[in-house]
Amino acid sequence: MSSQIAVFGTGYLGATHAACMAQLGHDVLGVDIDEGKLAKLAAGELPFFEPGLPEVLRDNIEAGRLRFTTSYEEAAEFADVHFVAVGTPQKQGELAADLRYVDAVIESLAPLLTGPAVVFGKSTVPAGTAARLADRLRVLSPAPDEVELAWNPEFLREGFAVKDTLHPDRIVLGVDRTRPGTAEAVARQVYGPLLEEHIPFLITDLATAELVKTSANAFLATKISFINAIAEVCEATGADVSVLADAIGYDARIGRKFLNAGIGFGGGCLPKDIRAFIAMAGELGAGQAFALLREVDSINMRRRNKMVELAREAGGGSFIGTRVAVLGAAFKPNSDDVRDSPALNIAGQMQLQGAAVSVYDPEAMQNARQQFPTLQYAADAFSACSGADVVMILTEWKQFVDLAPDELAGTVRQKVIIDGRNCLDPTIWRNAGWVYRGVGRP
Ligand code: UGA
Repeated sequence: MSSQIAVFGTGYLGATHAACMAQLGHDVLGVDIDEGKLAKLAAGELPFFEPGLPEVLRDNIEAGRLRFTTSYEEAAEFADVHFVAVGTPQKQGELAADLRYVDAVIESLAPLLTGPAVVFGKSTVPAGTAARLADRLRVLSPAPDEVELAWNPEFLREGFAVKDTLHPDRIVLGVDRTRPGTAEAVARQVYGPLLEEHIPFLITDLATAELVKTSANAFLATKISFINAIAEVCEATGADVSVLADAIGYDARIGRKFLNAGIGFGGGCLPKDIRAFIAMAGELGAGQAFALLREVDSINMRRRNKMVELAREAGGGSFIGTRVAVLGAAFKPNSDDVRDSPALNIAGQMQLQGAAVSVYDPEAMQNARQQFPTLQYAADAFSACSGADVVMILTEWKQFVDLAPDELAGTVRQKVIIDGRNCLDPTIWRNAGWVYRGVGRP
């Protein structure tokens, strides 16, 4: 049975969720305050790069199951299932999450809900937010006994957004146990086709659902910083962190995923989510336990500085007069997202210290230019490397992993390559006469 769904926020999370809910057969209205963004989406164009999503978007617009609007009135009229998928960025100058967009959706929507409706929060929020929003919803709605708020966190990865939405590892639903309502039944209907695939469906209280999401990201960040800390020890002892990660990864309790040492994590989620977690734990009086996450953050940020030092050393001790080719600007491959990108952070630092930095990324050039307009941008990987004293791979796009050392040798001034993602085979590069430096590798 299909549902009438409104999705508030049409960024990464919201646009993906809206298109994928339509793909499941529901009638979906995407709601945003940004008219320009909506016009693009309605024309079947994505304002960001996400493999596979444009097809889902277009197919469902054509099938008449997916539309977009700026009107909350239209959304309230049309739908009885509402998903809140707006951003919760880090507050300026603070660790905490900025909840103003989530709050604004509830404040605007609630007064328009005159009949039975379930509002599912998907955004990443500190524990306690859902309970507060549930109260606001009831206070502001003309039908307080017919509206319900539940929390249904999202775990999608950029680059795999469609797959992660349509075939998630699990679905988590937090409900207000003190006020039994229809949220679980509605979620079972919305996610019916997924539940038929026997995807685990966990019903929790509101705070647990909120915490599941932040804990998952905190754990992933911890795993990356753990292996990067081990990389530091490997560097001091001449050991090889990649082989070490393979070896410990065979232990099923540890697992090999998210154990790639390198320049660390970035993006719009992991960095801000661990900081919001630290802020929340502090507010709840459990701050001591999260000295751990402060360390995770500082290990991560240290990798960026370390990479700058490695490049300086490789360039002969100073950046003055050194040409550096930076391959990669996105925070990870298969994305054009440069939010808190380690690659751009490193490129920017080197340039400020006197290097001539030339950047190339297959998808993130436009976003990178906007954020770091003073860096030089090349038309392709070879042009970026032209005359370079040091070549740095900072995002492991397949086309960089596949680069042929002999071909690249013809364009650089010095055959020095720094592999910030440990994604190249050192033997192949060294055999071709290159000086190869990785992270935590001899
Ligand atoms: C992350 C989580 O993986 C998702 O589950 C979550 O839903 C999402 O945040 C979110 O909260 O919205 P995402 O930001 O798309 O997803 O990126 P990841 O694939 O987690 O990568 C994050 C960063 O870690 C990247 O910069 C990546 O290069 C880095 N990374 C990842 C490593 O340095 N080493 C690894 O082994 C893995």
